[in-house]
Amino acid sequence: MEVINSAKEIVERIAVLKSLGKTIGFVPTMGALHDGHFSLISKSLSQVDITICSIFVNPTQFNNADDLLKYPRTLADDCNGLEKAGCHIVFTPTIEEIYPGGADNFKVDLPLNGLDAKMEGEHRPGHFEGVVQVVKRLLDIVTPERLFMGQKDFQQFTIIRYMIDQLKIPTKLVVCETLREEDGLAMSSRNRRLTNEHRQDAAVIYRVLNQAKVWIDSKSIAEIEKKAMDYLNIPGFKPEYFTIINGHNLETIDSIVDVKEIVACTAVWAGDVRLIDNMILKN
Ligand code: PAF
Repeated sequence: MEVINSAKEIVERIAVLKSLGKTIGFVPTMGALHDGHFSLISKSLSQVDITICSIFVNPTQFNNADDLLKYPRTLADDCNGLEKAGCHIVFTPTIEEIYPGGADNFKVDLPLNGLDAKMEGEHRPGHFEGVVQVVKRLLDIVTPERLFMGQKDFQQFTIIRYMIDQLKIPTKLVVCETLREEDGLAMSSRNRRLTNEHRQDAAVIYRVLNQAKVWIDSKSIAEIEKKAMDYLNIPGFKPEYFTIINGHNLETIDSIVDVKEIVACTAVWAGDVRLIDNMILKN
């Protein structure tokens, strides 16, 4: 596996690969890799010739300085894991490589059309501008045929799909299923920061999402959201939102009538660790 830190170098390397007719798949990450990430790598390996993974903790998507500081950084383990997984190139740039002259030079002028108004956007102001900014920059550098992202970040991949569409970027977004631990907790880099007790209790999130799937045919949306918030409110946990939306446009819904894809999305604080998850209730 090649490890490349410089944007110029990876652009040149990719030009050579493309001149040889190779197709490129790209998995952007912030490191602290787990099996969920490796499943994106293997999906890419099965669909394209060359798989590139980036590891870059993007400061512009953190609205909370403490969260940025505490974000786990495990570069050596990540590279070992990627090598074993069969990844071809890992791109590990510095902030200066991604944003030469400052991040403000790389602002993306794309109104998000309300897609960022609720849920993560509401609770993490500026987060999606940062995500759009870094993914656009990475796509400009890597120019992949395919981009692989996880369903766990439902709002994120919907916004990236919108960006690709609006900016007519010639990359196909492939959304991959959320990988879960045995008890149902969605895999996340943040899980390693949970205390043992919170880790044990965190499976409540998956249980409540499943419960919402059962309730969707018999209870009102408002009732499900309220009950779910109550169920998630266990000692040490603080649910931030449990919202049922139209999966196509991320708008909140009052009823399931005429909605093709119904998704429940939630964010919960377990101590000082913020966990998100979602489940498609109907499609
Ligand atoms: O999902 C993530 O890890 C990040 O938001 C991403 C897409 C790598 C952008 O920094």
